[in-house]
Amino acid sequence: MDWYYQLQIKMLLAFRSSLLFDKINHLPWYRETLQQWSNDLQLDLGANILEAGCSTGLLSDYLSQQGFSVIGTDKSPAMISKAQSNFPTLNFQEENIFELSFENHRFDAVVAASLLNIVPDKAKALTEMVRVCKQGGKVSIFVPIQGFNPDDLKKLSRDLKVAQFSKAALKAWYRLPPKMLIDDVVKLFEEAGLSKPTPITYLNGMVAGFTGIKD
Ligand SMILES: C[S@@+](CC[C@H](N)C(=O)[O-])C[C@H]1O[C@@H](n2cnc3c(N)ncnc32)[C@H](O)[C@@H]1O
Repeated sequence: MDWYYQLQIKMLLAFRSSLLFDKINHLPWYRETLQQWSNDLQLDLGANILEAGCSTGLLSDYLSQQGFSVIGTDKSPAMISKAQSNFPTLNFQEENIFELSFENHRFDAVVAASLLNIVPDKAKALTEMVRVCKQGGKVSIFVPIQGFNPDDLKKLSRDLKVAQFSKAALKAWYRLPPKMLIDDVVKLFEEAGLSKPTPITYLNGMVAGFTGIKD
């Protein structure tokens, strides 16, 4: 039956990517990992946060529930439309990470999950995140990292006890996105004027969060 869920994911990715991201964001292993990464940021209550590449809004909603003031942004009109219908009281807007419409030093924290690894010019994207962050504020990214291998994936699948769609989604999420090297991310942060980040890994080392403070 695995093939059925793999095919379902391929079809959704090709024709209804907003629905696919919405479904993946609802899976406990994904939702809880993103929530853990955001908790690890240890932001002050009431902090105002920009989420770039928010897709259908689940993390923005979680951050808002934690007492933060959040703007969720994404380049895709379909993602923003789904995010807004999922969470009508939250603030979402279409924004390209490469040319954010916000003024300099606007946010206490700027975060992006699974975005820096997919954009072509990572330095430019990070520089834009830094630009809109306040002095002393936090910039954080969450990306799949190189080095995790198929045996690690099998073990992770067993540890998480995933099945059916959830198992196929974990496999696709491991296989499809571009991965980053920890050392490359650290260098990017330093070049963007952020403090040296200490990576925190999640999902047995499949992904890592990197947080830097703007000097
Ligand atoms: C792999 S998805 C990750 C979504 C979500 N953050 C998550 O963790 O599930 C990447 C998201 O970034 C958006 N995106 C891609 N390129 C972008 C860009 N240049 N600026 C802003 N968002 C972008 C996509 O539309 C998509 O919603």
